Amino acid sequence: MNNPKIRIIISTIREGRFGDKPARWIFDIASGREGLDFEIVDLRDYPLSHLREHPPTGHETSRWSGKLDELDGNLFVTAEYNHSMPGVLKNALDHVSPECHRKPAAFVGYGGVGGARAVEQLRPVCIELQMAPTRTGVHIGMGPLLGVRKEGKSLSDYDFLTSSADTMLDELAWWTFTLKAGREEAIEYIGAEL
Ligand SMILES: Cc1cc2nc3c(=O)[nH]c(=O)nc-3n(C[C@H](O)[C@H](O)[C@H](O)COP(=O)(O)O)c2cc1C
Repeated sequence: MNNPKIRIIISTIREGRFGDKPARWIFDIASGREGLDFEIVDLRDYPLSHLREHPPTGHETSRWSGKLDELDGNLFVTAEYNHSMPGVLKNALDHVSPECHRKPAAFVGYGGVGGARAVEQLRPVCIELQMAPTRTGVHIGMGPLLGVRKEGKSLSDYDFLTSSADTMLDELAWWTFTLKAGREEAIEYIGAEL
């Protein structure tokens, strides 16, 4: 079996965003693991318009849909905007559905309370898209945010973040292998992917 592929999605696109830092940090940790391949996917590279038709069509939609289709799981790196996920992420998810089915979703949130409210809103969106969210998320709160922004620290200086990243990645790996095998077996038994 080829290594399953997980995409790490940077969910904000504004100039000067913080999102690159947690994405690069979790990518570096995750890439040290055997058996899974990770890649960073930046929503800046998929400039989708707001949904004006459903199912959506167009070149950008096809590129986005194709990217999701080829991967085996999602790791969302998300900010919290007004106690929810950034609109650009919700819009991107509204453009897809079968591409996400029966694949895992994991979360790195950042914000005043670790992006927890955004992540908790993102979980049911993922469930509606038939993804399996991991229980453990990584929450980068005010302490590390200020440490990185104002004191020149790095996210890897915070052991408690690394520890929750390890737990989250263990869960993500379990679900990724399990669901990939399940999807492949379903094709054998049912004749087509569900
Ligand atoms: C429109 C907007 C709304 C925000 N709302 C929240 C919020 O509800 N909770 C929070 O913790 N931070 C909030 N923030 C602060 C963000 O956590 C902080 O700006 C973070 O760096 C945003 O991620 P980004 O830099 O990747 O865009 C908000 C920021 C913006 C731009």
